[in-house]
Amino acid sequence: MNNSMSNELQNNLDRLHTTDLGLNRIRKNLDLDISDIVGWCKQKVLTAEDIFRQGKNWYVNCDNCVITINARSYTIITAHKRKQTAVDEVAVSSLPNPNTKHPVPGFPVIYVKPTITRPNIIVGDFTYYSGEDFESRVTHHYEFYGDKLIIGKFCQIAADVEFIMNGANHKMDGASTFPFYIFGWKQDVPPLSDMPHKGDTVVGNDVWIGQNAVILPGVHIGNGAIIGANSVVGSNVEPYAIVVGNPAKTVRKRFDDELIALLQEFRWWDKAIDEIQELIPLLHDNDLGRVKQEIERRLAK
Ligand SMILES: CC(C)(COP(=O)(O)OP(=O)(O)OC[C@H]1O[C@@H](n2cnc3c(N)ncnc32)[C@H](O)[C@@H]1OP(=O)(O)O)[C@@H](O)C(=O)NCCC(=O)NCCS
Repeated sequence: MNNSMSNELQNNLDRLHTTDLGLNRIRKNLDLDISDIVGWCKQKVLTAEDIFRQGKNWYVNCDNCVITINARSYTIITAHKRKQTAVDEVAVSSLPNPNTKHPVPGFPVIYVKPTITRPNIIVGDFTYYSGEDFESRVTHHYEFYGDKLIIGKFCQIAADVEFIMNGANHKMDGASTFPFYIFGWKQDVPPLSDMPHKGDTVVGNDVWIGQNAVILPGVHIGNGAIIGANSVVGSNVEPYAIVVGNPAKTVRKRFDDELIALLQEFRWWDKAIDEIQELIPLLHDNDLGRVKQEIERRLAK
């Protein structure tokens, strides 16, 4: 574990503190019978197996516990024993770890989840972006707007894809769309309720988004969809549809309705990591009759 994010936490070690409630919580959750809880946590930060930041917090993985630290105030919020999760099994079996920033050493591709710092972006395990800075591709995204970008697991996001969020929209029900108030003109800031607001942007699981595609505010993209390179997606995309162009339109569905329904029910992306490893031959089998049979068999179990 040696990256700039974890260095930032380690370099600010002396700012770590907690509250009385925090002290009690940590003692109770970890069955610790020591007085210097903060000193104990500092030691763990220095020797952690892995530190990553998500939303407002740092998460420090050490021994069999996870310590949660507020990234702005450096308050140790809590610590709890680590459940034996799929991710832990990965560490044992050396399967891919979704908390690694660079899953392919020397290759400019990142797992997005461990790089997220904004609380209004939520990304699932193993979704990758072909580039170094995913958050810079999520534009006009202001916390006070309250809109979220929610992306599922195992999505493949090509270079220079852009998610335009609601803060990009100008008021457009008057004669002019010019935002005078931003540029120092005498104008009251219009209330948010007067601004066009299309809601959260939601991308399902196993979605492939081609290079340079632009996803407009409020769009929902179903599981397994494919977005063609350079497309501009302004309306919702059905699960397992292929959409291309500007405005993006469906060129075809990837599979028949029966297989799409089976895949939607099977939700392979939610399985344990070792089970996903075992499923890979099925997920890449192009004999779709056989795939249907096998998914039906597994769903019937
Ligand atoms: C969408 C895509 C996957 C092709 O899907 P496909 O089902 O094989 O589509 P086809 O090649 O049969 O094309 C179907 C139609 O859509 C058009 N089309 C395909 N991709 C298009 C795109 N990105 N933009 C506009 N039109 C596109 C084709 O010209 C064709 O039009 P026609 O029916 O009038 O001849 C592919 O074109 C694409 O955009 N891939 C993204 C690649 C990429 O960005 N990779 C990044 C690295 S991971």
